[in-house]
Amino acid sequence: MSVKLNTKYLRSFVRPHELDGLAPLVAAAHQQVHQKSGLGNDFLGWVDLPFSYDKEEFARIKAAAEKIKNQSQALIVIGIGGSYLGARAAIEYIKSNNYNALKKDTPNIYFVGNTISPAYLNDILSLVDGVDFSVNVISKSGTTTEPALAFRVFKELLEQRYGVEGAKERIYATTDKARGTLKELSDKNGYETFVIPDDVGGRFSVLTAVGLLPMAVAGCDLEAVMAGAQDSAKAAEDPDLDKNDCYRYAAIRNLLYNKGYSVEVLAAYEPSFREMCEWFKQLYGESEGKDNKGLFPASVIFSTDLHSMGQYIQDGRRQLFETVIDLQQPKSDFFIKEDASNFDGLNFLAGQNMSSVNKMAMQGTILAHVKGGVPNVVLELEKMDDYSFGYLVYFFEKACAISGYLLGVNPFDQPGVEGYKNNMFALLGKPGYEELRAEIDKELAE
Ligand code: PA5
Repeated sequence: MSVKLNTKYLRSFVRPHELDGLAPLVAAAHQQVHQKSGLGNDFLGWVDLPFSYDKEEFARIKAAAEKIKNQSQALIVIGIGGSYLGARAAIEYIKSNNYNALKKDTPNIYFVGNTISPAYLNDILSLVDGVDFSVNVISKSGTTTEPALAFRVFKELLEQRYGVEGAKERIYATTDKARGTLKELSDKNGYETFVIPDDVGGRFSVLTAVGLLPMAVAGCDLEAVMAGAQDSAKAAEDPDLDKNDCYRYAAIRNLLYNKGYSVEVLAAYEPSFREMCEWFKQLYGESEGKDNKGLFPASVIFSTDLHSMGQYIQDGRRQLFETVIDLQQPKSDFFIKEDASNFDGLNFLAGQNMSSVNKMAMQGTILAHVKGGVPNVVLELEKMDDYSFGYLVYFFEKACAISGYLLGVNPFDQPGVEGYKNNMFALLGKPGYEELRAEIDKELAE
């Protein structure tokens, strides 16, 4: 088991019978997921995905990744939200947060279309100047503005460099199986396409081609990722809270939320976990933050952020709980040597591995934060590799669904994200938005 829940530090915040009290509701949420009877049940394709994924497409993903590796020194991955965060999280988690800078025999991977910043776009353009590159454009709807804008730019650049025929050998589109502008364009131009299944929403799509193609290009072991997800799915099959860490985590989140803890801070002690935190925040923020409800998901990387957010967590307003990732085996270690002069007074650390110091920082922080009134949920993570990535992704996805149903929301929609888009389109003069533009103009003039 790659992920194990440790509730030792919750004793002063949650009494055992409180979990017993939630058990029937958890069992009902389990039925809603497995019998597809709850809100948003059109979007439960991720539940069986680790077993039922399209094996033919899986082989095509690996073949496309080989072609990209042979043809290109860089892959431009275009996407936003659920069409971006998972792949980035995976590459940093499995490989490194310094993936691009490290010596390797796989292409650099640059993520674009996740911002409208011109400076960011120009930087990436300069990074592929004189570099052979391919593009993986990812959009379920095929119409999202940020990736569509970026695709325009990189499509043009590819066509200038390699000609229209050459460009089509370097463009891979991951999108809906039949609908949308991107699908139409891909069919017309002959780009290789991969499918985001209808019943898998963006933030639950990392184990589809959305995440798998960039991961394969980065040299991740897709079989191990899926094996981890399968084992995680099996471990989260039994609705009995005593036998299901994933459900217990969901229930604890709900209990703490109902006690007035409105912010969950995901805390990890590895910089390579930072993008995983970003993925987690989208998963939980979009799934639960609606109908004026929901925990606010936040994140920190310690000990870095102990020197910034640590003060607030220890001593600020008491509305937070932490979910701490306790990594059991670091990817690599560093031995601390003795210094003859002991000029810095650090010889008391000599003879230890740096991971032991990191561990003690974690232990000390947990104790201090718990004493400061912050409930700490601990997730023991065996290691950070391909297998555990798949395991953890599924663990968080299933916990999110259960947690959303316990909260009484539809965990699979995101109506709130349309608000900014409509205003932006109206302000930019998009045809069809004239009425809203008039309303906004009036509002701004007041
Ligand atoms: O989770 C979601 O559904 C969103 O974050 C989407 O993934 C995001 O808006 C990108 O959408 P699309 O893939 O349609 O471009």
